[in-house]
Amino acid sequence: MLLLLNFFLLVTFSNVAAVQPSFGIDPVNKTFLLDGQPFQYMAGEIHYFRIPHKKWDDRLKRVRSMGLNAITVPIPWNLHQFEEDDEPQFSGDMDLSKFITLAQSNNLYVILRIGPFISAEWDNGGLPWWLLRKKTLQKYRSNDTVFIQQVTQWWGHLLPKIFPHMRRNNGPVIMVQVEHLYGSLGICDKDYLDQLEALAKHHLGNDVVLFTTDYPVLQTMDCGTSKTMFATVSIEPVENPAQLVAWHNIQQAFAQGPFVASHFVIGKAKLWGINTTFPATDDEIVTTSKIAYSMNGSISYSVIHGGTSFGFWSGSVGQYPVVTSHDMGAPISENGDLTTLFMKLRFWINGLSDWAYPPTSIPINIPKTKYPDVEMMIFDSIQGFILGNDPECWISTETPRTAEYIRHGYGYMYYNATFLDCGNLYIPSFAEDAYIYLNKNFIGTLFSRFGNIHNNTMQITGCLDQPNLLEIMIDMGGRESTMYPNPSRGIMGDVYMNNATLQGWYSCEVPIIPYQLSRIEDVHKMISYPRNLTAIREGALNPNVYIGNMHLKVQPVDTYIDTTGWGKGVISINQYTIGRYWGSVGPQKTLYIPGDFLVKGTNLIMFYEFEGESGACGTGTTCNAKFSDTPIFTW
Ligand SMILES: *[C@@H]1O[C@H](CO)[C@@H](O)[C@H](O)[C@H]1NC(C)=O
Ligand SMILES: *[C@@H]1O[C@H](CO)[C@@H](O)[C@H](O)[C@H]1NC(C)=O
Ligand SMILES: *[C@@H]1O[C@H](CO)[C@@H](O)[C@H](O)[C@H]1NC(C)=O
Ligand SMILES: *[C@@H]1O[C@H](CO)[C@@H](O)[C@H](O)[C@H]1NC(C)=O
Ligand SMILES: *[C@@H]1O[C@H](CO)[C@@H](O)[C@H](O)[C@H]1NC(C)=O
Ligand SMILES: *[C@@H]1O[C@H](CO)[C@@H](O)[C@H](O)[C@H]1NC(C)=O
Ligand SMILES: *[C@@H]1O[C@H](CO)[C@@H](O)[C@H](O)[C@H]1NC(C)=O
Ligand SMILES: *[C@@H]1O[C@H](CO)[C@@H](O)[C@H](O)[C@H]1NC(C)=O
Repeated sequence: MLLLLNFFLLVTFSNVAAVQPSFGIDPVNKTFLLDGQPFQYMAGEIHYFRIPHKKWDDRLKRVRSMGLNAITVPIPWNLHQFEEDDEPQFSGDMDLSKFITLAQSNNLYVILRIGPFISAEWDNGGLPWWLLRKKTLQKYRSNDTVFIQQVTQWWGHLLPKIFPHMRRNNGPVIMVQVEHLYGSLGICDKDYLDQLEALAKHHLGNDVVLFTTDYPVLQTMDCGTSKTMFATVSIEPVENPAQLVAWHNIQQAFAQGPFVASHFVIGKAKLWGINTTFPATDDEIVTTSKIAYSMNGSISYSVIHGGTSFGFWSGSVGQYPVVTSHDMGAPISENGDLTTLFMKLRFWINGLSDWAYPPTSIPINIPKTKYPDVEMMIFDSIQGFILGNDPECWISTETPRTAEYIRHGYGYMYYNATFLDCGNLYIPSFAEDAYIYLNKNFIGTLFSRFGNIHNNTMQITGCLDQPNLLEIMIDMGGRESTMYPNPSRGIMGDVYMNNATLQGWYSCEVPIIPYQLSRIEDVHKMISYPRNLTAIREGALNPNVYIGNMHLKVQPVDTYIDTTGWGKGVISINQYTIGRYWGSVGPQKTLYIPGDFLVKGTNLIMFYEFEGESGACGTGTTCNAKFSDTPIFTW
């Protein structure tokens, strides 16, 4: 049976290779044409940038094994071009060409979302932070010459890399999406869409099938579609088939071609501090898929596999920060395990007699384990650690500088200034948490988060009879992913003490750079500045850096680090930033660690803990990092 199946696929693929490879739309018969033959896709969105590249092939095999014939792949500009002056990077975890080639070798066609805005719960929706420096990102993009120039440069690097993978060149890339849900912004800048179209065609050829995706509402479709790009819709699971028919009709009013739901939302990102439940049941997702299929529609599940927002890449949605896990309740879970939704969709697809891409055999689950506790020691206060690492600072008189201004993209900022008299400290605008120190002592936290929870002022007491030192650490959080333009990060504008502007600022980047080192002793050697460990331990509830060695005698496998008993911060293991945690708020308690990030031998674990641990250290000076073999979410 398996042999027959493979043979069948081989025939399908070699047949199409015999004719001139091409992809297009038949507007009369309302169908896609792949190599001249009617074609329908069932795709799933997958984020190569949220999967370690060593696991790409495994994840793609899982996608194919459900019976899908295509994937949708967004491309985050900010990942590839970290700094403005950088040549865009395409190696290692950023090797897009390799990912596309792997998809093809797994018999999956590829639909690319080139943005430049991709949303995807990613920092700034994929737009680089350094654009915010350039006083660009205006609403009317077509008039924003700086932005258009930057996109032109970026696509000038990206699109030539994609071109060889286009279907016409015998590659798997069949379609390319421009922008994402653009109509929802209500800007309706059609000239902008035309500019993007011209730019894409310049690199990919006039025959490229470009498309837009918008909610199936007349107003947003009016606003987000263009006359010459194919209009598709974003849908949700429906209870009533009539709803899907109505959405189909709206799409058809704008599209000369098949029904396409290029963004079929089947799950929701979890956010720190708020309950987000996805209301639809598995059965509604299956039913909606069946109806769309019977309409000869093409669909793309968003998402088929979400992965993990490693580093500082998770964005925020409606001012709620997105958690590090991007599991999204997807058919293929964060660690690759297959869910009941996966099995239900696979069962349905397997029963389709007219589907030319039946499911393949299911790969076995990847092993995971609960490693023994690792002892963690307080290494330094965070502010001592930063200053010891000789941060890059910007010196200014009145106004502290934003992160973008001093060219610091992600993570944390450090500020200091001196003042004479104690009183009311007021920071009108900052993002998102501000940890305040008076004369080196931690005295409290101000925050501006969750949209409606702000505390931007505090009474400061205990000043000395001399210039007092005010230090502020800012947790920058993740930038908004669902709309733009975006405000900056760090402290935006003046800071007041008793209504007087504080003068003389240092605005510094915080170098949280995961170490290539693996042993605690090496870190000790590297840090040459003096530390008063007695004082640091007395301030165990202050923002601190913890450090520990994990010894593995055998080849490592996947695991989770359990942040129960820790507050808020970020964890790094070896040279990898595993991601943000916020155990004191939830819902995510465990962070996924792919075995690929660990080594047989000694591994270095670091916690940058900002809120102070709350139980991980018991009563003593040693604390524990705990592990788990399953993900833990409190809701
Ligand atoms: C529509 O499909 C029919 C049957 O396959 C075919 O004969 C016809 O040429 C198609 N029309 C167009 C415009 O491609
Ligand atoms: C774009 O710029 C032109 C010329 O400056 C101006 O006439 C037009 O109103 C601008 N469009 C928008 C939408 O701002
Ligand atoms: C979210 O919902 C769960 C279960 O209904 C509840 O236990 C939890 O406290 C809620 N969390 C928040 C932040 O509302
Ligand atoms: C779907 O396509 C088939 C074959 O081309 C056609 O017979 C059928 O009428 C189409 N169904 C719909 C709902 O368009
Ligand atoms: C503020 O921070 C900078 C950078 O670490 C440091 O050089 C400076 O001495 C600090 N200012 C004071 C008053 O401590
Ligand atoms: C704001 O934060 C400060 C410092 O943490 C605290 O002293 C004060 O009570 C808070 N105010 C409100 C209204 O929560
Ligand atoms: C600051 O200014 C406000 C209004 O401008 C005033 O109500 C308040 O008393 C002032 N606070 C101090 C400490 O001077
Ligand atoms: C270290 O800190 C402790 C507790 O704050 C203090 O008593 C001691 O004098 C400090 N030692 C030095 C060398 O500064």
